[in-house]
Amino acid sequence: MTEIRVLTDEAQYRAHNTLFRRAMHWGPPTDEQWPATLPSYEPGRVLAAFEGDEMVGTTQSFACAMVVPGGAVVPHAAVSRVGVRPDYTRRGVLSGLMREQLSTLSEPVATLRASEGRIYGRFGYGLAGRVRFLRIDARKAVIPGSPAGQVRMVDPDTSDELLPELHARFGLDRPGQISRWPGWWARALDRKTEAENRVMVVHSGPDGDDGYVCYKVSEDKDFKHHMEVQDFAWANADAWRDLWIYLTRLDLVDTIEVDAALDDPLHWLFEDPRVVYTKDVYDQIWLRLVDVPRMLAARTYGTAGPVVIEVRDRLLPANDGCYRVSPDGAERVEAKPDITIPVDLLGAVYLGDTKFSDLAAARRIEGSRFAEADALFAGPVAPLCSTFF
Ligand SMILES: CC(C)(COP(=O)(O)OP(=O)(O)OC[C@H]1O[C@@H](n2cnc3c(N)ncnc32)[C@H](O)[C@@H]1OP(=O)(O)O)[C@@H](O)C(=O)NCCC(=O)NCCS
Repeated sequence: MTEIRVLTDEAQYRAHNTLFRRAMHWGPPTDEQWPATLPSYEPGRVLAAFEGDEMVGTTQSFACAMVVPGGAVVPHAAVSRVGVRPDYTRRGVLSGLMREQLSTLSEPVATLRASEGRIYGRFGYGLAGRVRFLRIDARKAVIPGSPAGQVRMVDPDTSDELLPELHARFGLDRPGQISRWPGWWARALDRKTEAENRVMVVHSGPDGDDGYVCYKVSEDKDFKHHMEVQDFAWANADAWRDLWIYLTRLDLVDTIEVDAALDDPLHWLFEDPRVVYTKDVYDQIWLRLVDVPRMLAARTYGTAGPVVIEVRDRLLPANDGCYRVSPDGAERVEAKPDITIPVDLLGAVYLGDTKFSDLAAARRIEGSRFAEADALFAGPVAPLCSTFF
């Protein structure tokens, strides 16, 4: 019988990391990588499934906070390192891990990145945010005009100090953005692995530092230079535009690749909007409303008549029930529902990426008053999570 245990010591954490990496077809962590990985194991948040003494499955979560529509920031669990040993798959190991994790999380919401689209809906996670993967033809990218502020390159030691501070100041700019925890920074700033050859540039305007970008340029066998934008945050439009002027005027660079929100107006910066090419749109945020009443109360709503939504949650039945949502907020009610929705699809509409009417058209939900529900849940900006975990 599979038993789920909370891991407590470094040897177990390393076995957990090795198992997860094997499930992903990666090699085990090297002695060089391990010191930067260890801080990402937070006591009490690391679960493993055992068959007797054998570890056969893993998951864990990181405690942080997430922006919800309207700007409130709520406690959030970033779920990661989900893996089952290849010789133990399809025997319910993941199901056991998910049930245990969801019933013990103290945060009202969890998100994860899914390796495959069919895994997590059954556990109440819905596809709540997508991202555009852009390629920019840097040789042809012309942004007219001059920069409004100053851009400076910072050395790695300064960047290690500045990045967490600046991200905390203006990185939480959209629904779906999450704060970064110490273990996340330990890995991101580890020069032996991730941060090798990373360049950081900071923008300052009249009120001081107000934007940054981290990038890495590599050269291929045809001597073409490709830039990967790894981290980008800004507090205002001048910082955003100036940093793009800097990136597109760098010598030698042929192409720039960057992840951007679905509504990012980047192409409007350039004389020729076609220099920005969408290579892919992929699902990014899979969101699980762990505490539905708390999460419905945490966000704001648009202008429309009230709608009663009946939520069904197979794994966490405390969420079952009807909620009246109106421009004044959300509350639990005893009333006839307008819409009935499973919790994974409520997660999908929560950040504003998906509309109730689209789910109805796809015959995924039933009811009426979908236009009102769309207007209530719509937000002025598309969700995004710039922090990979
Ligand atoms: C994905 C993974 C964790 C699933 O673990 P598992 O122990 O096999 O899952 P379970 O046996 O609990 O499966 C539960 C249900 O999900 C389904 N399922 C699980 N993985 C699936 C997948 N990749 N695609 C489609 N369905 C899947 C199972 O068929 C089962 O369905 P059922 O209840 O109708 O029988 C495991 O296959 C794995 O480690 N894969 C490689 C690493 C990976 O992708 N990790 C996820 C990173 S985000």
